[in-house]
Amino acid sequence: MAVRPILRFPDERLHTVARRVEHFDDALRQLVADMADTMYRAPGIGLAATQIDVHLRVIVIDVSETHDRLQVFINPEIIGEDGERRVSEEGCLSVPGIYEEVERPERVRVRAFDEHGKPFTLEASGLLAVCLQHEIDHLNGRVFVQYLSRLKQNRIRTRLLKQVREAA
Ligand code: NI
Repeated sequence: MAVRPILRFPDERLHTVARRVEHFDDALRQLVADMADTMYRAPGIGLAATQIDVHLRVIVIDVSETHDRLQVFINPEIIGEDGERRVSEEGCLSVPGIYEEVERPERVRVRAFDEHGKPFTLEASGLLAVCLQHEIDHLNGRVFVQYLSRLKQNRIRTRLLKQVREAA
């Protein structure tokens, strides 16, 4: 297992659309292990492969309070959502220190595969639903700040670029 570097907004690579996983092999399971390591170390509650510059449709999530309930989603697809929408505050390991409100469907039904290629479907609500939608967006090249106004996006971009310059 290894902790991998996380891309930071506004890195253009975060806008890459990830490819579907075709082979459920040891290399995939190694990627999942590295992603889990990277997420727990950060620490965070979700990570998409896109964020470590691997453009495959792989997500890891752990929304448990005990940080011991890893959920793996390969080639995840939202196959249903209910009409109700809810606003909640989101953050992202690729947008450190920024928390903003985003509105999304409150419940989603997701179809995916585990790291051994076994298909499953899951009904998610609450934090898990938010997290799944946020991470699937990453696989489609979308970062949550893109839901905000242009003005806010530009402010965030400026602030993060300044942090990078100061750290250099
Ligand atoms: Ni994120």
